[in-house]
Amino acid sequence: MAPGDPILGVTEAYVADKNPKKVNLGVGVYYDDNGKIPLLECVRRAEEQRMKTSPHRGYLPIDGLAAYDGAVQELLFSSKKETIVTVQALGGTGGLRVGADFLKQLNSGAQVWISDPSWENHRQLFEAAGFKVNSYAYYDPKTHGLDFPAMARDLNALPAGSIVVLHSCCHNPTGADLTQENWRSVLEIVRSRGLIPFLDLAYQGFAEGLEADAYAARLFAGEMAPVFLASSFSKSFSLYGERVGALSVVTGSADEAKRVLSQLKRVVRANYSNPPTHGGQIVATVLTSPELRQLWEKELGGMRERMKAMRRLLVEKIKARVPAADFSFVLKQRGLFSYSGLTKEQVRRLRDESSIYAIDSGRICIAALTSGNIDYVADAIASVIK
Ligand SMILES: Cc1ncc(COP(=O)(O)O)c(C=O)c1O
Repeated sequence: MAPGDPILGVTEAYVADKNPKKVNLGVGVYYDDNGKIPLLECVRRAEEQRMKTSPHRGYLPIDGLAAYDGAVQELLFSSKKETIVTVQALGGTGGLRVGADFLKQLNSGAQVWISDPSWENHRQLFEAAGFKVNSYAYYDPKTHGLDFPAMARDLNALPAGSIVVLHSCCHNPTGADLTQENWRSVLEIVRSRGLIPFLDLAYQGFAEGLEADAYAARLFAGEMAPVFLASSFSKSFSLYGERVGALSVVTGSADEAKRVLSQLKRVVRANYSNPPTHGGQIVATVLTSPELRQLWEKELGGMRERMKAMRRLLVEKIKARVPAADFSFVLKQRGLFSYSGLTKEQVRRLRDESSIYAIDSGRICIAALTSGNIDYVADAIASVIK
């Protein structure tokens, strides 16, 4: 038997719990204020349009829908470029894996560095592609934020050719992000040491906005090659199960881009042959229709603002109950998650005493908080930190 997934294990325990007040803060998806995964109105309209045409169910090209690849590249890098290759992939995970397999062919001796901590699938995925995976310093539990000097020190010690996986925004699991100044320093280190940056942008639009959240992608793409970037619409379009993402590779010339594309196609062909149609078609329709695009940006902004409001409420409500407790760091963290600073023991008490489920590391999903459960959650946190 292979070991079970620790995060999915939390959800199984939550489902089995009979307490009607139970709350699952262990999830990795955006819930609306009713505690549901939303179907965005822009998606509903694009689906309606698509279904009216009774589309055939033929194969997509190996690298996906051309309209999708082009629109994604524009969204990520602000305009399409002959030197950048974008291929549709099965979610952000698929983009990472296609990139990992390609990198393994290019430089089989290179090692991979991920942040400590990181999204747990980063390690598994790069190990499955055959790499040795190490970690660089990232999070400081004392400040509940980024320890940038330690991160820079570790990156500065890596051998040339090392692959560095960087969370572009909304770091999973901590919520602690780099500032723009930090990003410029990382770019300098990566460039001067000859490292290969692999950016993971799974939450574009969840931190500050579509443009601001693409800062790292655009900075790196404008300054160096190669740059690898995996992106996902699972969260920003609430299209988790449709598996819509991409891999983009910034290359040194239009000719190199053609050669890279030919290699990426070989990786995809031998893996899952070609990507699924529906999600890619929906996203391409929304991104290229001015009206639907405007609607999407509004809905995405609504998700972002709700998460920010929940952060503010959580901090205020804990303060009102335990005036000595300072959770204000939660306001600095961004995106879906917060490393709450709750200990393993406190997480266990939340579960046993109040049926509130979080990850042992103290990671909570901010988007699982709603106006209906926030008082209950604040009461329970207050009782375990007193
Ligand atoms: C940092 C990070 N990268 C990639 C992904 C993968 O997303 P997808 O569901 O699109 O494969 C996630 C999803 O949780 C994530 O948090």
